[in-house]
Amino acid sequence: MKKKTTKNQKRIAVLTGGGDCPGLNAAIRSVTKVAQKSGYQVLGVKYGFRGFFDDEVSELTHKDVSGILSRGGTILKSSRFNPFAKKSDQKFLAEKIKSLNLDGLVVIGGDGSLGVAKDCYEKLKVPVIGIPKTIDNDVCGTDYTIGFHTAVSTAVDAIDKLHTTAESHDFVMIVEVMGRHSGYLAGYAGLASGADFIMVPEKRVQIKNLEKCIRDRKKLNKNSTIIVVAEDAKLYDGKKQVAGTDTVHDSYGKIKLGGVGWMIKKCLQLRLDHEVRCTVLGHVQRGGEPVAFDRLLATQMGYAAVGAIESKKFGQYTVYESGQIKLKSLKKLHDGKKRLSPEFYEVAEKFFV
Ligand code: F6P
Repeated sequence: MKKKTTKNQKRIAVLTGGGDCPGLNAAIRSVTKVAQKSGYQVLGVKYGFRGFFDDEVSELTHKDVSGILSRGGTILKSSRFNPFAKKSDQKFLAEKIKSLNLDGLVVIGGDGSLGVAKDCYEKLKVPVIGIPKTIDNDVCGTDYTIGFHTAVSTAVDAIDKLHTTAESHDFVMIVEVMGRHSGYLAGYAGLASGADFIMVPEKRVQIKNLEKCIRDRKKLNKNSTIIVVAEDAKLYDGKKQVAGTDTVHDSYGKIKLGGVGWMIKKCLQLRLDHEVRCTVLGHVQRGGEPVAFDRLLATQMGYAAVGAIESKKFGQYTVYESGQIKLKSLKKLHDGKKRLSPEFYEVAEKFFV
């Protein structure tokens, strides 16, 4: 670590874990500036929880966080390292955090990292506060997570562009977006970009319905079709699943997704005269400058996280609910699964064809 605190100075640490997203730097900046104003020394832990093991912990100064509000990615870097995967790592982590004399640890993460934050609080008695981020918007208890709105805008921008190329060449264009097991990103981006069909994990889709949509459009002299597909969407032919991915797992035991768009392209191409193309948007959805909503969300959540540490309300995470920033117990994290609502999909369906 670069610099020692003066005796008795209060100290917090902040880290970003899991997949990156736009708005992480805005949250780091907020936590650091607000905490420093309240007299804390702030430490940055690099590469998520892995930083505790690799001794990648150093002071974050005002200069480090100045000018990063609008920058994508995370100055603290990130990893999917899970310290609860091995028993020996838990012991090391507990000792390491104790030796740093922290008055609070801010974990900016998605479902996986916030789950680790919960375990740190419950099993290791670490004074933790979580801040939810992910382009998937699949963290329970909060209407929105940092990064989601920017990813929606990025996907919409790309789909708008694909519309014109699809029209020029009469393509059936499949656009695969991320989102893990939730259809939020596909649903929001699809509806906002005027997609002709949207496939989400929450809704079982039959290939005959996809085909019908394309043929019905043709009857209306619409020779191109945009189909937005969530990476965990599945396609059925009767009872048989004909497209969907589920193979490799990461250190949290989560499935690594991607590629369903190509499978759907293959299935459709066999049944249509139209040329079917596939574009996988991929990691571009996690990059770029955060939109204003994400900057505001990150800034307000950072402020709330430091406030929670000052009032010693640990084991909580910041949430955005009905326009307000609140704190909830990390126990609420696993209150069911956050998925796209049937009501949202019903609205989207009205615009198919
Ligand atoms: O959780 C964010 C996310 O981008 C998901 O939408 C996607 O499934 C996953 O991360 C991809 O992770 P990786 O970058 O590790 O392949």
